[in-house]
This record gives sequence, C-alpha cells and structure tokens, in this order.
Amino acid sequence: EKLAEKGLLAGKRVLIRSDLNVPRNDEGAITNDARIEASLPAIRMALAAGAAVMVTSHLGRPKEGQLLPADSLQVVADRIGELLGREVPLVQNWVDGVDVKPGDLVILENCRCNVGEKKCDEALSKKYAALCDVYVNDAFGTAHRAEATTVGVARFAPIACAGPLMAKEIDALTKALEAPKRPLAAIVAGSKVSTKLTILSNLAEKVDRLIVGGGILNTFLLAAGHLIGKSLAEPDLVDECKKVLAILEKKGAALPMPVDVVAAKAFAADAPNRVCGVDDVEADEMILDVGPETAKLLAKELRSAGTIVWNGPVGVFEMAPFAKGTEALAYAIAEATDHGAFSIAGGGDTVSAIDKFGVEDRISYISTGGGAFLEFLEGKTLPAVAVLEERADK
Ligand code: 3PG
Repeated sequence: EKLAEKGLLAGKRVLIRSDLNVPRNDEGAITNDARIEASLPAIRMALAAGAAVMVTSHLGRPKEGQLLPADSLQVVADRIGELLGREVPLVQNWVDGVDVKPGDLVILENCRCNVGEKKCDEALSKKYAALCDVYVNDAFGTAHRAEATTVGVARFAPIACAGPLMAKEIDALTKALEAPKRPLAAIVAGSKVSTKLTILSNLAEKVDRLIVGGGILNTFLLAAGHLIGKSLAEPDLVDECKKVLAILEKKGAALPMPVDVVAAKAFAADAPNRVCGVDDVEADEMILDVGPETAKLLAKELRSAGTIVWNGPVGVFEMAPFAKGTEALAYAIAEATDHGAFSIAGGGDTVSAIDKFGVEDRISYISTGGGAFLEFLEGKTLPAVAVLEERADK
C-alpha cells in the first residue's frame, strides 16, 4: 500500500504470494471463495498502481515435479477473472521467466509443484526473486510454512513487503492479543486438548476468561474431578489441564465450568439426548454440547468482554440437537461486538459455525488462516512474517 502510494509500483514487476488454497468439492469446483475475495485488494492495488502483476499460491499438497489436473490453479484463475471482470491467464513453467507487462495480471501455476518449493530451496528462491522488482507476501494463511514462495524469495527479492491482507491479519491478531481492551475472553474448543495445549497455555497467560468446549472441556472436567461417562477426552493430559487452571488461578482469571450439558448415548443426530447436570452424566453417555444454563452463563461472560478471541465450536454444531451451545455463543459474541467489543475468529470449524448462524457481519475480524491463525495463538513466530520483519529492519 505504501509503495503504491509513493508511486513506486508503476511499471514494476510485482510478484504476489497469496493463499488461494480454497476448498473444493469432488468435481473440483470451489466451495468457498473467501480466500480469493480476500486476496483481491492486493491485486487491485498493484494493478491500479501500474504494476505488471504475477500472483502465485499453492493449492493442496501436490507432489513436487508433476502437475495433476486436480492440482491446477486454473479453477482459481477463472474465479479471479470472474470477480475482476477480465481475462486472467494461467502461466505454466514460470520459474525461469514470465512474460508480463504493466497492467497485466497473470496467475502462476501451483507453486508447490515446483521442485524445491517446500524445502525452501535457495536456488529456487533466487529464481523467484529474479522474476520481480517487488515481492509481496499477502498469504497469511501460509505464513506458518517456511517455503520458497513464503520465506526464501523474501530473502533475495529487491524489495520484500507484506500485502494488505497479511497486514490486516497481523494487526487484528496483535490488537486482540497484545493490547486488548479488557476483559479479554478466549474460546478455545474442539475435540482434542493435545492439538490445542500450547494455545491454552499461551492464552492462559494473557486472558481474563478462558472458555473451553468440546473434547477439550471434557478433559478439563476430568481434571476438576467430574465423571464424564464415555465422552471424548484425553485422560493423559489431565495434569496439563491442571497446569492451565493453575496459571489462570494465579492471575485471578477464570475458566467457567459448565453447570449442565447435553448428553447422548451415541454420536449421532438422531440419538436420544437429554439435558442433565454436569454431575449427572451416566457411564454410557457422552457429552455433545453445553446445556442451556451453561450457554446463558457463558453468553453473559462474553457480553461483558472488551475483546473476544474465538477458535472452535463448543458442541457438535453440525448436528441440530447439539448446536445450541455454539449458536448461543455465536450470538453472544455478535452482541458484544455490536456493543463495541473487538472480536476475532479463525479456524475452519469456527468459520463454518459463523456462516451457519449468520453472524459473519457481526464479528470484527474473521481470519483467513487455519494453521497460521492457530500458531499465532500459540505465541509462535510465523516464519513468513519474521523474514519480512528482518527485511524491514535492514
Ligand atoms: C491452509 O489451508 O491452512 C494453508 O493454505 C496452508 O496449507 P498447508 O497446511 O497445506 O500448508
């Protein structure tokens, strides 16, 4: 954006790394183009500034050195063409040179098909760098991967900078976690504690309230001495949960425990289910959602928050009988946001829940990142961001 404002992109060859890794159905058609939409501001900005624009991305996890039809970015190039109302050619075999003129926009075929991409090969990175005057990393969703198009090229390109989406994502996450309006509430939910333990430990240091749900909650219930029947949980990690509870307790923060839950004998939408007290779960039952009293309690906690970070549904929201807890939380976050809280959400299931309950316009920021969003919450340095910071320092 700053380069464009200063007129420094006019006539320049600009290589944009976007994250156009979109979900597709069995026929290969795009099922959600949010990442494509989110990549357009950078592309439009570079074109408006008079640059010759090349955009590349990975799509899926292809084997390097071959391009199967299912790995091609053609479907993405077509969609970008539709959205921009112009022809958007897809360039194959682009590593050794790309024919592109100021005002042109081309998509460079799936970068993960290039040999050396994933291991961030130096020679390949230099070839990428030689293609452009300016390298722009706008792929927040891939910022946790140290590959040649995300990290290597940034070391060698004449100029390397973040694109508008990357900047927006980092700004939103930094605002939520580094200088939050308090109270700061985080919802960390999902099936396994093991996959989110680092997030829980990192966030416990920062938040005023930590709401957990799903299998994660079940393990916390075990840690607090409750019987959870045959609910999904990881008993091996009870001690780790206790450590998280201790961090929270030490700083006067809370992890609200449920008072009631929705339990069923089988993991199925049509399994008979019942609302029961948290201590009344039978040995042959499993917890599949928080109960209505708990949902009210959590909603109250959220409505008074100044900042909310949301990752993960608190129940099996894909099945109607177990969706009400997540629905209540989604509305509470939306209401808090309506009243001035800053809310940020990310992760595949969370975004699906937001769409399902129609609150997408009432969340301050919805991240395009999956793994990258989670690694930021873990407090990890994202390699693609770190290399841009190094370049900026110089
Ligand atoms: C994602 O979808 O999370 C990113 O595009 C990264 O994809 P990857 O997990 O295949 O690296």
